[in-house]
Amino acid sequence: MAQKIIVGNWKMNPATLTEAKNLFSGIQRALSKIKNVQAVLCPPFPYIPAASELLKASKAKTSFVLGAQNIFFEPKGAFTGEVSAELLSQFGVKYVIIGHSERRKRGETDEEVNKKVLAALRVGLKPIICIGEHIRDEEGQYLSVIKAQIEKAVAGVSKKGIDSTIIAYEPIWAIGATAAMNPHDVHEMSIYIKKCLVEIYKVRTIVTPVLYGGSVDPQNAFGIIHEGGVQGLLIGRQSLELESLTEILKTAQSS
Ligand code: 13P
Repeated sequence: MAQKIIVGNWKMNPATLTEAKNLFSGIQRALSKIKNVQAVLCPPFPYIPAASELLKASKAKTSFVLGAQNIFFEPKGAFTGEVSAELLSQFGVKYVIIGHSERRKRGETDEEVNKKVLAALRVGLKPIICIGEHIRDEEGQYLSVIKAQIEKAVAGVSKKGIDSTIIAYEPIWAIGATAAMNPHDVHEMSIYIKKCLVEIYKVRTIVTPVLYGGSVDPQNAFGIIHEGGVQGLLIGRQSLELESLTEILKTAQSS
């Protein structure tokens, strides 16, 4: 069975480098007892070099892999405040979250998301494309929202490219909320997302992993992974809590 992918999106946390370093080493220690899980940590940019150093110095067999929370689509140049995929890959970054709803809310467009996906693939970073609806309406309009987000994000991405891309389904109403989506609905959405990709790429099966994100915690992770039929989880708040994240990683290992 394929490894589950557990991605921690730290967003703009923790508050200090010391806390970040403690978390990196704590997670590293926890992973030494966990097998068959791909753990990806996406800290804020300034903490990436510290994690990179720790990974280089470590002799551990199992470790986390580094991800970023965003990139800019140009490789270099006069783009004040931006960070390219090329710059990040020098620090051992292997994944990048693209199109998170918190960025889309602040103006990131589908077109930019698409350019970033292509830019990530150009240098071998695995894009984690975030999609998700604002509301679930009775008529099922949310399905067209999801389909359109996928089509626009993967425009121009080759079959090889989509094989190393990840789709993270994060219903916006479940992010930072008190409860996650129920596993039955997660299952329906994971099938729907794969179906959209099968249609776009005109293939019979698709290997692109689909993750779920939105209020994942140690209590609901098991159900979401088992009944939800997803290949992993994208975790916000609970990825900053060592004990909770360790529990979730253990759950993912046993599934
Ligand atoms: P929470 O797990 O805090 O709801 O955040 C989810 C998220 O946005 C991960 O990208």
